[in-house]
Amino acid sequence: MIRERLDKVIASRSTFSRKEARNLIKDGNVRVNGELATEPHMTVVVGCDSLALFEKPFKAERFVYIMLNKPQGVLSASRDANAKTVLDLVPDSLMRRGLFPAGRLDKDTTGLLIITDDGDFSHRMLSPRKKVPKTYRAYLRDPLVEDGCSLLESGINLKDGTRCRPAQARILPQEGENIVEIILTEGKYHQVKRMFAALGNEVQALERTHIGSLELDPNLKLGQCRELKPEEVCKIIMD
Ligand code: URA
Repeated sequence: MIRERLDKVIASRSTFSRKEARNLIKDGNVRVNGELATEPHMTVVVGCDSLALFEKPFKAERFVYIMLNKPQGVLSASRDANAKTVLDLVPDSLMRRGLFPAGRLDKDTTGLLIITDDGDFSHRMLSPRKKVPKTYRAYLRDPLVEDGCSLLESGINLKDGTRCRPAQARILPQEGENIVEIILTEGKYHQVKRMFAALGNEVQALERTHIGSLELDPNLKLGQCRELKPEEVCKIIMD
């Protein structure tokens, strides 16, 4: 059971400063378990007491985990002076200080991206030692060479000599001979594109469909995001 001060909970799970949070409470904008709360220093039990801000439910959970269907043309970064970033796609209702994309997809890659404020979780999801599988669908210029899948499965050398871990790969014939599903347990720079380039091919479009056993929600349109349920977060890192 974690008890925290109300003003701290409001400020750390929103974009309000601690001072603004205190004033919001004093001005009667916050309820705890339905009762008006006017003392900023009162404590609440995180995950047990229910909070409301401006008469709308307010999430007091320590961390938030968001699934985004990343569109093309958006940077996997928190902020950029000139370009649109994935954080610009997070709606106000989920926005809070400290959110960042857990890992990167290239600007032209689409699909599943996790946005969170849980640094520890992100580290575990991305650590090569954890071997969390990431599944991609690659749309290739040419059909895969005959032994392409087995070459990828035995661990391929990139053009610069970098050795890749064995990957799982299969052609999706029902989708067309040029579409390959590939599963990696590491995340080198432009890895999927460089792996197919090493086979003399070219990735023309790339989509990430799964992280761990979490699948991109097919109901999310490009550019849309939603919060993950706790059981969905568990599907990402299974140990
Ligand atoms: N591999 C790539 O080449 N690009 C991505 O965005 C992700 C994996």
